[in-house]
Amino acid sequence: MPQWGVADIQALLTARLRAAFDTVEPGADPVLRPSEHADFQANGALALAKRLGRPPRDVAAEIAAVADLDAVCASVEVSGAGFINLVLADSYIAAQVGLLAADERLGSRTAAEPARIVVDYSAPNVAKEMHVGHLRSTVIGDALCRVLVHLGHDVVRENHVGDWGTNFGMLIEHLLDVGETEAVEELSVGDLDGFYKAARSSFDNDEGFRERSRRRVVALQSGDGETLRLWRILVAESVGYFAEVYAKLGVLLNGADIVGESTYNPMLADVVRDLERAGLLVTSDGARCVFPPGFANRDGEPLPLIIQKSDGGFGYATTDLAAIRDRVGRIGASRILYVVGSPQAQHLEMCFAVARLAGWLPESVEAVHVAFGSVLGTDHKMLKSRSGATVKLVELLDEAVERAAAAAGERGAALAPDERARVAHALGIGAVKYADLSGDRTRDYVFDWDRMLAFDGNTAPYLQYAHARIRSVLRQAGDGASPAPVAPSLAEPAERALALALLGFGDAVDAVAASYAPNRLCAYLFDLATTFTSFYETCPILRAPDPERRHSRLLLARVTADVLATGLDLLGIAAPARM
Ligand code: ARG
Repeated sequence: MPQWGVADIQALLTARLRAAFDTVEPGADPVLRPSEHADFQANGALALAKRLGRPPRDVAAEIAAVADLDAVCASVEVSGAGFINLVLADSYIAAQVGLLAADERLGSRTAAEPARIVVDYSAPNVAKEMHVGHLRSTVIGDALCRVLVHLGHDVVRENHVGDWGTNFGMLIEHLLDVGETEAVEELSVGDLDGFYKAARSSFDNDEGFRERSRRRVVALQSGDGETLRLWRILVAESVGYFAEVYAKLGVLLNGADIVGESTYNPMLADVVRDLERAGLLVTSDGARCVFPPGFANRDGEPLPLIIQKSDGGFGYATTDLAAIRDRVGRIGASRILYVVGSPQAQHLEMCFAVARLAGWLPESVEAVHVAFGSVLGTDHKMLKSRSGATVKLVELLDEAVERAAAAAGERGAALAPDERARVAHALGIGAVKYADLSGDRTRDYVFDWDRMLAFDGNTAPYLQYAHARIRSVLRQAGDGASPAPVAPSLAEPAERALALALLGFGDAVDAVAASYAPNRLCAYLFDLATTFTSFYETCPILRAPDPERRHSRLLLARVTADVLATGLDLLGIAAPARM
């Protein structure tokens, strides 16, 4: 079986060392870690020697002498108090890179146990502008879906659009006041916020409008045909606007992924009935609630999850409970991810707790809140547009592309105009996405145009240019056909460092999936690109001293470009071959 990836190599070395440790004491742990002093270091001999009352260096030397590591390591040496330092053989690393070069997955693994995973993300609200929080959810959710699919999981995307609730009484009445045609016009150009605010203002200032809105909610909930028709107009226009944003962003989400809150409306009565039967419902201040153990407010009083309000209306939580039942029962999910901002942490934890109490979320099914922080302006306050209004998402994305075109300046002067436009799009959208993905998602992040569009530093444009530059070298090298996948030669330290970096791709992808942390892949790609730069500075490729080294370096360059492009693709970021 081929071994590649640093984690695989570590596992191989551990197994070989374990056998050597066994000859001294069966079952002793080698405790092997990557190390700065060598490639790897094992310190297990220290604990073992202590147990045996022997000098640690003697024990380490005995183990080093019998360990079967010749094919893998160039040196196995005892150092310091009794550490065993392992330096990988260049020939071994080269062979691994050769295998990786011939592997279309570039050393990334497939999940040992493929799972059906529902990913709840994006989830904007009808007749309301998508805000930067929805942008974060969309971008992070999209990257996670891509990585999980790549690992072989069965991913079900669900866009839990806010398309139901008491607001719709007011929105429908406002639609009638404005006139259907006019309303459609306003909404189709994406002025969702203007529409919403006007409706809100009538609601707040006009008693008659308020009364009509209340009656309209009742009509909507009882399924009145004309009311539903008007409601559908609001939904269709908003969904059209969301689709425009998704298309600009280049995310996987599409119309088929929309499973709005209204979908669960017919299931809400059953949620209440079954909670009632399970003896979980408590009436508190006229509302029917569940008090899941372990949730309390600041004064230590138990916190309710409101299931049905005193006026008979259902809450946001009731819909989430119905969604959990549907995802587990109908879809058969074994994992559900909620890519939702941190402020909803308690809401989601309480929903999960109640669903577990009710038996709708069995222990075998994992529910995870993939939380993220807020987007701040460069003033470190919540992001606002220049006029102080909420930022309109399509405009923000258009601005990103414009700024990218300006920042690229004369770089793409040789390209045809339409190709230049595509590059600007890739740079602008890539910059916005990467800025969002490259930090610890749980922290707030500062939306800073200059930083995200910089051509150096940990940014999308830096990686995209690094990739395009390598492709250009490969084009100059000749016919465009990739060199035969043979092992490279690693005589130079920079070649060896690049080869080792390439072997880390699979680990980086696994790390993203293990903690839903796309920044792990960003950090890896940035490190790979800088390692390549050092290599390129010391190891000429096209002007290599002999054909053999040229061939070998072209192979390293080709694999680096492939890893960069595949990695960026997993983040949802385009990697044009020419820029
Ligand atoms: N529409 C909600 C909002 O804008 C987000 C929904 C998140 N998903 C969920 N299942 N609650 O805040």
